[in-house]
Amino acid sequence: MTVLVLGSGGREHALARAIAADPVVAAVHVAPGNPGTAAFATNHPVDAADPVAVTTLARDLSADLVVVGPEAPLVAGVADALSEAGIACFGPSAAAAQLEGSKAFAKQVMTDAGVPTARALVCTDRASLDAAFDSFGAPYVVKHDGLAAGKGVVVTDDREAAMTHGLGCDRVVVEEFLDGPEASLFVITDGIHALPLQPAQDFKRVGENDEGPNTGGMGAYSPLGWLPENTVAEVMTSVVHPTLARMRELGTPFAGLLYVGLAITSKGPRVVEFNARFGDPETEAVLPLLTTPLAQVLYAAATGVLDRFEALDFDDRSGVCVVLAADGYPGTPRKGGMITLPADTETVHVIHAGTALDTEGHLVAAGGRVLVVVATGDDLTAARDAAYAHIKTIDFPDGFCRPDIARKAIQKQI
Ligand code: AMP
Ligand code: GLY
Repeated sequence: MTVLVLGSGGREHALARAIAADPVVAAVHVAPGNPGTAAFATNHPVDAADPVAVTTLARDLSADLVVVGPEAPLVAGVADALSEAGIACFGPSAAAAQLEGSKAFAKQVMTDAGVPTARALVCTDRASLDAAFDSFGAPYVVKHDGLAAGKGVVVTDDREAAMTHGLGCDRVVVEEFLDGPEASLFVITDGIHALPLQPAQDFKRVGENDEGPNTGGMGAYSPLGWLPENTVAEVMTSVVHPTLARMRELGTPFAGLLYVGLAITSKGPRVVEFNARFGDPETEAVLPLLTTPLAQVLYAAATGVLDRFEALDFDDRSGVCVVLAADGYPGTPRKGGMITLPADTETVHVIHAGTALDTEGHLVAAGGRVLVVVATGDDLTAARDAAYAHIKTIDFPDGFCRPDIARKAIQKQI
């Protein structure tokens, strides 16, 4: 099988790596890819969000399967263009990707499907914002109604800051605050059948102990020992299947990766958000534990025959990944910082998220999240220790990481 992966970040490197390990895969291509994917796949300088360019590339490569990494190509209709051209694509149509692209649409689907989530109000001006803040009380949760790469959400006790964020966007969704640890559940679906991956936890804030602004994610681990055992089954029944059914009713079936962002509250799991693609960096922590061949599962989902698989299998190790970001992130990250990487080991590998080669061929920082150090181990402690030990051997003076990824889980403080 020839597979084309779209995107250039850490998630795409991790997806391409797992796809390359599937025995049916003969060639992996990535567009545009990064220096990490170039080591084992063929990169193509094509804009992943350009439906015509992507379709042409997939045809030229005789790709059997296209796997869309980020949300932008989905919202731009890349999956629609590929399916019109008769090319199997893992990723939802633009209409179905609105589950991620519009917070207001997602809320409406959840309401219609009876999915447990935070109560919410759509606001467009000062009066409606004031009314929503009065109704829900602090902390205030204000979400930009559009794609914002994880940075359009403000959660604050400061009513003025909440108002400023609300007035700074055309349309926002104001929500009831959900109290409880978060979990990310990824579900592979062909629109009807659905298979959950092992849940992971992401670290959204930039600083230790969840301080500072939201980011795209600073690290992740899996499995979640603290998660009540029936949670995944419960979420499949109360969230995933009703949502897929509602999307079919709307005439926009959702096929691809449904990312269910959950808050595990005292009243049970509640949906914080849906995304229409794999999460980053949770994907980096989870995929090394997956033992089911990934390309075959994604192909089955893309061609409507996911029921050929009964379940996804995971080995009983733990995975931890830690993001090395460039100074300044999530504001304006410093670009061009030199990086020297040690060799990967049997249990640790480095994923490229925002790197480039300079004119002399040196590896340099080229984004906010630059590297993702991924470790597996017999338990969370072993994986975590291996990840942080490896980071010490990476030479990247402009980089920083959170020191507390997976720490509370190990200390049983969740
Ligand atoms: P979102 O883009 O909707 O995932 O929001 C980003 C982050 O903001 C989430 O991962 C949560 O940490 C936080 N957040 C979003 N909605 C809520 C909510 N209703 N209650 C508490 N925290 C929230
Ligand atoms: N890790 C959060 C996200 O991918 O949106």
